[in-house]
Amino acid sequence: MRSFRIFRIPCLYLTFFFFTSSQISAQNKFNGPSSSSLETERIISQSQIKLLNTLQELNFNPSLHPGHTDRLTGKWDTDFLRREEWTSGFFAGTMWYMFQLTGNQVWKEYALEWTLDLERAANIRSDHDTGFRIYSSYGNAYRLLENREHYHMILHAASVLSERYDPRIGAIKSWDWMKDRNFPVIIDNLMNLELLFEASRLSGKKEWYDMALSHADVSLRHHMRADGSTYHIVDFDNQGKPLDKFTTQGCDRNSPGCRDFHVWSRGQAWAIYGFTMIYRYTGENRFLNAAIDAANYFMDQLPDDFVPPYDFFEPVPSVRTKDASASAIASSAMLELYTVTDNTFYFESAVNILGSLSSPVYFSSANGISSILQKSTRHRGQGNIGTSYADYYFIEALVRYLNLSGFVFPEITKEVSFFLDQNYPNPFRNSTTIYFSLDHESWIKIDLFDINGRWIKTLHHENRKSGSHTLSLNVTGLSSGVYLYSLSSNGQRRTRKMTLINQP
Ligand code: GLY
Repeated sequence: MRSFRIFRIPCLYLTFFFFTSSQISAQNKFNGPSSSSLETERIISQSQIKLLNTLQELNFNPSLHPGHTDRLTGKWDTDFLRREEWTSGFFAGTMWYMFQLTGNQVWKEYALEWTLDLERAANIRSDHDTGFRIYSSYGNAYRLLENREHYHMILHAASVLSERYDPRIGAIKSWDWMKDRNFPVIIDNLMNLELLFEASRLSGKKEWYDMALSHADVSLRHHMRADGSTYHIVDFDNQGKPLDKFTTQGCDRNSPGCRDFHVWSRGQAWAIYGFTMIYRYTGENRFLNAAIDAANYFMDQLPDDFVPPYDFFEPVPSVRTKDASASAIASSAMLELYTVTDNTFYFESAVNILGSLSSPVYFSSANGISSILQKSTRHRGQGNIGTSYADYYFIEALVRYLNLSGFVFPEITKEVSFFLDQNYPNPFRNSTTIYFSLDHESWIKIDLFDINGRWIKTLHHENRKSGSHTLSLNVTGLSSGVYLYSLSSNGQRRTRKMTLINQP
């Protein structure tokens, strides 16, 4: 399998070049609300080469998820490739956006592999980053393909995230690892509300919407300063009273030289993105106003090249490192903010940022750095590196920009799909129940196989309407053991194992 893939690579390069130049130049006639434009064709083709190089660097192993590059080598840091990292969904997500931009099936294939590997990441219960991990991967997969299994993964991840919600505080606890704090909530947590809002919209489960709305209000009340800037962390007591407002990212107030007043630029970008997205789901003007305040503050503080230092007020010159990821996130956010305010300032600001990010200073096309963008940073004093999240939000912003510019995206065929859940009870005696759902009315067939895949009999064959269904499987007369049951519909098949215990 692996050697086949590596062998295929030269052909992939050719496919990309031919595809992008004909598809994109023909259609990308800028038609947006400003005369400014970006070299989108160049950005897309060079970004594809970067993604392809990353696949090779990872040896096409979908259990490796790039987080950030090593400062010395420029290659993806091999200590941060685990699916447990908060960044694990971004590489898959960037490939989904590339699939959307180019329609090239190769991106769909790889995006799917990297996404499916994150199934286990949906069960991580020790932080709020389920949203980043699962919504950038499975969320984009479902947005593009509407596959039923991806839908169920979004709902499952939302359910896991909702366990971190504390009704006394009305918020989701961000981290368990900060043992000296009672209930830390970080500004980034706003981003992960998208998983809850979307899962609620898809499933009708209002409880998730209410949790996300309550968290958004708590964050609005306590993270936002009067001037539109933001705190990184607010720690709460068990009644929801803030115990402390402080930062560990940006200019940490405990570090020599840092003042009490500091603004972590990426945190500020999370606030613009988060509150704009929350307004999209709630329609509540207070969130739109918060997004506007946060965006205006961000733009007021930006230096001439539209890329901020890691903290806007970092006093120590040697750690006043640029963070391109903050600008990438802010540009994507402001493109959405433009669509809801109609204020061209946000569109122009986003395009100016994207212009700077796609210049040789930040766009790493011609050097040995593995990421698409360079000059981001993770932590204070870490120096400049590439990050998978700068890449993700940069390419997302490009998609949003092209969308506003009248670009005709390649048509993507949705997957006619269905979902087959685990039988219950399991193990069972004689009879058990299976649950499945269908996107469309169709003929379904349930077959029974032994553990070696030998067909035993067909248990059901009937027409079913779209939606959720249960069926009883009666396997009386078979000896104890593990069996396979499969659901076939529209030429696709899903199979699961079940255990029969028939005592004499
Ligand atoms: N969400 C973690 C960070 O922005 O560094």
